Amino acid sequence: PAKKIAVVIGSLRKDSINRKFAHEIIALAPPSLTFEIVEIGELAIYNQDLEENGAVAPQAWTQFRQRIKDVDGVLFFTPEYNRSTPAALKNAIDVGSRPYGASVWSGKPAAIVSVSPGATGGFGANHHLRQSMVFLDMPLLQQPEAYIGGAANLLTPDGKINNDGTKQFLKKFIDTYAAWVETTGKK
Ligand code: FNR
Repeated sequence: PAKKIAVVIGSLRKDSINRKFAHEIIALAPPSLTFEIVEIGELAIYNQDLEENGAVAPQAWTQFRQRIKDVDGVLFFTPEYNRSTPAALKNAIDVGSRPYGASVWSGKPAAIVSVSPGATGGFGANHHLRQSMVFLDMPLLQQPEAYIGGAANLLTPDGKINNDGTKQFLKKFIDTYAAWVETTGKK
């Protein structure tokens, strides 16, 4: 059976170039993977008071946790905000990691694509995300790394990749992830 992959996009804006790349990579992926974009924009900022000492966790948290629990792997797309991940993405990571001992991330094979109009391809965000993944015990695809720099110039006005080199790279990336997911993870 195909592996179910959650796609988590660290940008909340409608015209996000990360979201455009997410759709393009999904289109390039082999049939051994199915994808589900899991939105993070409605998650309240993590606060233990909202679910401890008798409080019932916000429904958006519970639903998000369940959706991640149900998948075989996670593909992250992250913009870079001030050389790190956007707060919305960090918040989603934090929400999924709690309550203590019940993290939904543990053991899920993950890969990271950082996308930026800037020259450094979101390297800072990509690696800050990796730092959390290590603690959360998520196996991470090591190679190829995906730092998509100058990304605004790699898309047509309707959001498609406009050159073969980028397409070939992303195809190789998602094919490698697909093969690796088959042999990795606790599920
Ligand atoms: C940015 N941007 C940015 N870009 C970058 O390469 N390095 C950075 O450190 C930052 N810092 C940063 C901070 C904040 C608060 C914003 C809003 C933006 C620019 C960013 O890469 C650009 O807005 C992208 O288009 C964001 O990705 P999406 O939303 O298009 O997916």
